[in-house]
Amino acid sequence: MVREVLIVEDIHKIYDGKVHAVKGVSFRVHSGEIFGLIGPNGAGKTTTLRMIATLLKPTRGSIFVNGVDVVKDPINARKYIGYLPEEADVYTRLTGYEHLLFYARLYDIENVEETVRFGAKLSGLGDDLERRAGEYSKGMKRRLLLALVLMRKPHLAILDEPTSGLDVYASVRVRRMIKKYVSETGSSVVLSSHNMLEVEYLCDRIAFIHNGRIIDSGSVEEVKERYNVLNLEEAFVSAIERVGGRK
Ligand SMILES: Nc1ncnc2c1ncn2[C@@H]1O[C@H](COP(=O)(O)OP(=O)(O)OP(=O)(O)O)[C@@H](O)[C@H]1O
Ligand SMILES: [Mg+2]
Repeated sequence: MVREVLIVEDIHKIYDGKVHAVKGVSFRVHSGEIFGLIGPNGAGKTTTLRMIATLLKPTRGSIFVNGVDVVKDPINARKYIGYLPEEADVYTRLTGYEHLLFYARLYDIENVEETVRFGAKLSGLGDDLERRAGEYSKGMKRRLLLALVLMRKPHLAILDEPTSGLDVYASVRVRRMIKKYVSETGSSVVLSSHNMLEVEYLCDRIAFIHNGRIIDSGSVEEVKERYNVLNLEEAFVSAIERVGGRK
């Protein structure tokens, strides 16, 4: 039987009683699966991910992580969640290694040493972990930040544009890190992205989000077949045109 790690049911977010950013989004993520939310700027991806991560309360609807109601019991839900924000940054004066240690202690993990070792391995930063993170390239910072999220082995990792602003090589390293993490731990990931190549490489299933609504979803292959196109980019454009184009 497929176990559902995340259930999102008809969630809405209205900011300040005015901006209806998310308008009834529903989807499910299975155990061991990578699920991608794809959509243009302002589609509602970050808002959706922040609601799942317990940082924002949905105006309406429900979210369950590992069967725990995220809205009613956020403290319990957080035990299963790791969240990488779109705009995360490092502490410039701390080394990579000090970051790992600091976060492992902060999380109140029993086996700090083992967690730090796992984080160090995940990051692939090697000897650079001894350097101050302020000296890191963007790609190295992102790998460190991702390792801080994943080293705790969250059942559900929520990654908001994990490779945004990175060059091709740095992006590939981050993608490999995510894929390896999922295959080694059997955990699940929900991520957002603009990059169709990334999504094709990483995701088992995807949802196109546009103007706060999911306009299509399925496995990458299913979605491509549905629109009779060769790549996700074309499928995405067709999906948007089908619902009446961009605002
Ligand atoms: N704190 C806020 N207050 C008011 N409106 C907001 C707030 N945050 C986001 N919005 C609005 O909600 C809508 C969705 O924004 P969101 O950041 O979720 O989109 P996104 O899909 O993540 O976009 P991007 O690809 O640019 O990151 C936009 O219209 C945005 O202006
Ligand atoms: Mg965003």
